[in-house]
Amino acid sequence: MTAVLAKIQSNQQLTPQADKDIFSIELVPLNETHAFDYQPGDWALVSGLNPDSLVEKVLALLKIDSKAEVELKRFGNLPAGKALVESLEITQLNPAILNKLQRQFQIGLDRWSDRAAMMDYAQGKDVVDLLEDIPEIQRLGADFLQLLSPLAPRYYSIASANTHDVASSLSPLRLLYRRVEYQSSGRTRLGVVSNWLANQPAGKVLTIDIKSNPTFKLPAGKDSPIIMIASGTGLAPFLGFMEQRVANQATDNWLFFGETDPEKTCLHCEKLNAWKNKGFLNVDFAFSRVEPKAYVQDVLKQNADKVWESWQQGALVYLCGSQDKMAVAVQALWQEWFAEKLNLTETEAENYWQQMRREKRIQMDVY
Ligand SMILES: Cc1cc2nc3c(=O)[nH]c(=O)nc-3n(C[C@H](O)[C@H](O)[C@H](O)COP(=O)(O)OP(=O)(O)OC[C@H]3O[C@@H](n4cnc5c(N)ncnc54)[C@H](O)[C@@H]3O)c2cc1C
Ligand SMILES: NC(=O)c1ccc[n+]([C@@H]2O[C@H](COP(=O)([O-])OP(=O)(O)OC[C@H]3O[C@@H](n4cnc5c(N)ncnc54)[C@H](OP(=O)(O)O)[C@@H]3O)[C@@H](O)[C@H]2O)c1
Repeated sequence: MTAVLAKIQSNQQLTPQADKDIFSIELVPLNETHAFDYQPGDWALVSGLNPDSLVEKVLALLKIDSKAEVELKRFGNLPAGKALVESLEITQLNPAILNKLQRQFQIGLDRWSDRAAMMDYAQGKDVVDLLEDIPEIQRLGADFLQLLSPLAPRYYSIASANTHDVASSLSPLRLLYRRVEYQSSGRTRLGVVSNWLANQPAGKVLTIDIKSNPTFKLPAGKDSPIIMIASGTGLAPFLGFMEQRVANQATDNWLFFGETDPEKTCLHCEKLNAWKNKGFLNVDFAFSRVEPKAYVQDVLKQNADKVWESWQQGALVYLCGSQDKMAVAVQALWQEWFAEKLNLTETEAENYWQQMRREKRIQMDVY
């Protein structure tokens, strides 16, 4: 993993009319020492600062003054407010905290009988949920901060390719990200990194870590066909794939892209259509909130014969987007095809899917 300093060139909202905010951010290396070294399919890891509103709530519940100095094992002495803004995970509840509460403070012994129960409880909750749910914990005050995990960077698929021969080291790196905001138990929840990133202006310098993803890679040659299946921000790595394929003059590229609305959330559709018009990309869209409503797996199904033909010609298949929703449905469809076309039982078809994954004919980057 390589840490580099990157300057924001632009940070643009792509979906001003939609009920979700998706951004395209373009970063350039601060200077040649910080040149970006990546392949399409790799990730950028980005850190952020916790939302002030949530930090204030945690401080109030624990009755700690923001400026009061606390000593944290990993971070040394620092003001409590600063620790909560910069260093500690509070938007997500790590089940390990529940275990520590039981072991160190005998709190919640009757609530969670095992790790599964802790995971189940922590699912979708933040630290304020815990403090409000079990007021006994509030009495721990600053001791509670010791239990929190360090604030982790978040993964983002790189949505560009390092394709320019001249000064390639200084070419921009793009990300496609959704600002996480949702309501739960009467409170607005803001994702830490996506909200922080959405508020950063052009010119701001950030540290990013570039992490290679060897299990999500284009074929070496330009002749193998590729089939890319994306929902939502899962489009990101395929923008990088396409830049690389165009640079390599590889034309057998088929994208299935699912979003909600052709007018409001057709992410980078101008770019996709331009590649299509130049003969580089076959693209099929699935829009879930306009008639005829469809998800990517429905559109794949409508193209079953041609997709299977491409598979038989050696196409590599890539999936990116939601793990629980899109990826589950697309896997089920491919297994149906394997069963039907290769005359396999359900179990054999599932094993064949796993085998194809091991052989990297099918590659997934789902989250
Ligand atoms: C391999 C990988 C690649 C990824 N690539 C991308 C990418 O290219 N673009 C991108 O936008 N994201 C991507 N993500 C997701 C990204 O890493 C973050 O998880 C996401 O941006 C939310 O982070 P956050 O800090 O803003 O929110 P957090 O503070 O982590 O979120 C707080 C809580 O919100 C919940 N939550 C998150 N989203 C929602 C939602 N929509 N509705 C309800 N609850 C929600 C979480 O489960 C969590 O409990 C990727 C993740 C992985 C693992
Ligand atoms: N942790 C959480 O609680 C949580 C909750 C929501 C989203 N997320 C994650 O946030 C990430 C970013 O969200 P995003 O807006 O980029 O993408 P997204 O929420 O996955 O939405 C993109 C498209 O996928 C569609 N979709 C929904 N269910 C589907 C299914 N079963 N099969 C195929 N397509 C389906 C959506 O349709 P509709 O929206 O019209 O159904 C939409 O058109 C995703 O990884 C998502 O999993 C996390």
